[in-house]
Amino acid sequence: MDAHRQAHGWRLATALSAVVLAVSAARADLDTNAVLTRIAFGSCANQGFAQDFWDPILATRPQLFIFAGDNIYSDTYDLAKMRAKYAQLAAEPGFQRLRAACPILATWDDHDYGLNDSGAEFKEREGSRAVFLDFFDVPASSPRRQHGGIYDAVVIGPPGRRVQVILLDTRYFRGPLVKLPERAPDGGRYTPSADPKVTLLGDEQWAWLETQLRQPAELRLLVSSIQVASIEHHWEHWGNFPRERARLLRLIRKTRAKGVIILSGDRHQAELSLIPEGAGYPLYDLTSSGMNNARGHVVDDPNSRRLAGPFFYNNVGAVRVNWRGADSEVTLEVRDLQSRPVIQQRVPLSALQLTLKPSTP
Ligand SMILES: [Fe+2]
Repeated sequence: MDAHRQAHGWRLATALSAVVLAVSAARADLDTNAVLTRIAFGSCANQGFAQDFWDPILATRPQLFIFAGDNIYSDTYDLAKMRAKYAQLAAEPGFQRLRAACPILATWDDHDYGLNDSGAEFKEREGSRAVFLDFFDVPASSPRRQHGGIYDAVVIGPPGRRVQVILLDTRYFRGPLVKLPERAPDGGRYTPSADPKVTLLGDEQWAWLETQLRQPAELRLLVSSIQVASIEHHWEHWGNFPRERARLLRLIRKTRAKGVIILSGDRHQAELSLIPEGAGYPLYDLTSSGMNNARGHVVDDPNSRRLAGPFFYNNVGAVRVNWRGADSEVTLEVRDLQSRPVIQQRVPLSALQLTLKPSTP
């Protein structure tokens, strides 16, 4: 190649890489005035496995995507290795397309926070917090940079069509789990803690959550990496902290927060569960997990609160809202990676609020 053609080639390559960089760095901003009708979510995405779930997510035409935890599998105390694993996610073309297409909100679970099933004892939790907040572009001015953990909330939409997304942190403050002497038939190893002082959210996050539940909103997506409704299996769930679980249900009733729906992950399977009077009204818990590491085989998994599922193969979650005033309706959905709905439940928004008992004459 002559010098002229070589120089031309370099200029072309430099220009092309600048374009690629610009495309890969493109980020859709969160517009808090937007009327949300299509939200997608998912959990449990191993950055080392094929990530063929981005197209099915994009096929839902999401206006918002929520990472519900185990967004990568870092499982390390080494923060450089953790950053490198996030960089693997950042390099995924599908992730880059999603990031350009819609804003992304995120909380974490054990494997991106620290180690398998870890809680407050994880000694690199501060470093891990910084890595997480950097990766998800949380600005230096955000309250998230000031308080412990990574919990956060945002209200999106005009009055009458407001969606509040509450991202709980179920790791940073969480006390010890209690282990069974041996694994249960479902493969899990935990049993409810009898310790009256053990916490899941921690005092500071509890106080914050109460103020959030008092914010006006028509629909609230309460994102908890671990399940709230399904508590009969022996893996991680809120039932391992019975007082904390009762406190959550009590708090939703006390604040009279309407429109609460739980989105959860962690389980490597999908299902929809229901606590009939959980919040003074039916409390749905839609679990979507994993995006690329679902079990792939049937397991014995007790859950008397299950309405739909379980689905043991790779999946993504979606929440659609049909805003029609008093007749507004939410559709809770899980899709397989061929975009076929495997779970679909329509819920009138009017059913998700405390009903005043008629006064007796
Ligand atoms: Fe997990």
